Amino acid sequence: MAAIWQVAKDDNQAYPALDGDIETDVLVIGAGITGLTTALQVAEAGKRVVVLEALRVGGGTTGASTGNLYAPVTKGLSTLRKKWGDSVIGQVAASRTEAVDYIEETARRLGVDCAFHRRPLYRVLTDDDSALNNSLDEELDALLCAGLTASLVSETPLPFPIHRGLKLDNQAQFDPLRYVQGLARELSRLGVGLYEYSSVLDIDFDHCRAETATGKVSAESIVLATHTPKGINLLQTGMEPLREYGIAARLSGQDYPQGILWVLDPFHSIRSYQHAGQDYLIMIGEQHKTGEGEPGVDYYGRMESYLRSKFPVASVDYRWSAQQYGSADGLPYIGRRHGSERVFLATGFAGDGLTWGTVAGRLLGDLILGHDSRWSELYDATRFTPVKSMKEWVKENTAVAKHLAQDYLTPTEVKALDDVPVGEGRIVALEGDKLAVYRNELGQVSAVSAVCPHLKCLVHWNPGDRTWDCPCHGSRFEIDGSVIEGPAYHPLARRLSSE
Ligand code: FES
Repeated sequence: MAAIWQVAKDDNQAYPALDGDIETDVLVIGAGITGLTTALQVAEAGKRVVVLEALRVGGGTTGASTGNLYAPVTKGLSTLRKKWGDSVIGQVAASRTEAVDYIEETARRLGVDCAFHRRPLYRVLTDDDSALNNSLDEELDALLCAGLTASLVSETPLPFPIHRGLKLDNQAQFDPLRYVQGLARELSRLGVGLYEYSSVLDIDFDHCRAETATGKVSAESIVLATHTPKGINLLQTGMEPLREYGIAARLSGQDYPQGILWVLDPFHSIRSYQHAGQDYLIMIGEQHKTGEGEPGVDYYGRMESYLRSKFPVASVDYRWSAQQYGSADGLPYIGRRHGSERVFLATGFAGDGLTWGTVAGRLLGDLILGHDSRWSELYDATRFTPVKSMKEWVKENTAVAKHLAQDYLTPTEVKALDDVPVGEGRIVALEGDKLAVYRNELGQVSAVSAVCPHLKCLVHWNPGDRTWDCPCHGSRFEIDGSVIEGPAYHPLARRLSSE
């Protein structure tokens, strides 16, 4: 399932897979917005840089994002304010505003046609719900406290009435895939070694070496720009992996609303996008924890029904989903990896990753180059914030413990391979082994181990995306077991195939 940005993919430049052994100054793992922004910072300062990407440039979460760029965060600066106080939300707004300005300036400087436009951001309520009404007032107060210019409104560009809303001017939208493709072109011009389809299978953190199936890279520094760190990392114990669904539609009229439009009740993020004279309406929503989708629920169908209830939809042309990882204390982790001076990471961006990824890329660039950064202490990846993190930490670890116990002990949904419906996946217990079994449209069965190679939780079937998703730390796998994303290095072990 392709994200809307593929429609405008004007760069089919392919980068080779790594073939052989290389030495470099900085190895960046991950060619999304975080990795490529970091790479640009250090390459422009004269460092030798290599970038390894498991898929294509921007092929992970960056290319599945909404393309919205903003100073606050989706959960609200008011939520952060309760944990961190007034000074911190001011710093969050300032660092994120700088990042949006940096994207605008970089796109202009490098001549990247990524449809960057300044747009207002709206948070709106459609019903008079008292709890959410309070949250809107609290958010307005937090935005003003953080030094942003916001106001309450009773009208928005949406074609349906709202109860009340909040408007924040001078935020932005762009095409995230075209932006990172532009960064990649510039990096290539600067002599950076960019390698696609080069999954990292192992990292030796002590010696700063990474290995793919076809080569090795040794570096002075390594940057884990992989959305969540690969392998086992303490941060994963407090981060919540979530999935969200996206659709892009053409409308029967010409009334495409402009702006970042967040309807809060229930949450749907709506924006318009134009490419080659064709308008699209993009909507994101239906968030749920990875691997914990409600059985039998068609999330794409629910998205489409909601959109059709609000807009004159002519056709739904694109469907996709994306993953996010929220941090335990609400701020991203950006900086040195625990116990290492030469390994850097960035994670915990929740649903606000394009702006955080740019904050991270600039900050990591500064750290590698030995420059001062105003934000290094605030976002320090080794920070210890037990009071602010405890609730999420307990929640996540209870969930992991529950999955480890319950998923192994609960009888499986089907007893035998023959019971797996066509076009579906099910967990089947066979001779003491738990298998993730899929039956294709021809009735042929394939099976991989259901045991996630990361930390041994059992994967769950995701019917919307037809993938195996691990509910513990968000690793996701194709039907044949190969890794799509998440901390797992290795695929689900192959068991049998009748194809
Ligand atoms: Fe950690 Fe699967 S992602 S156990």
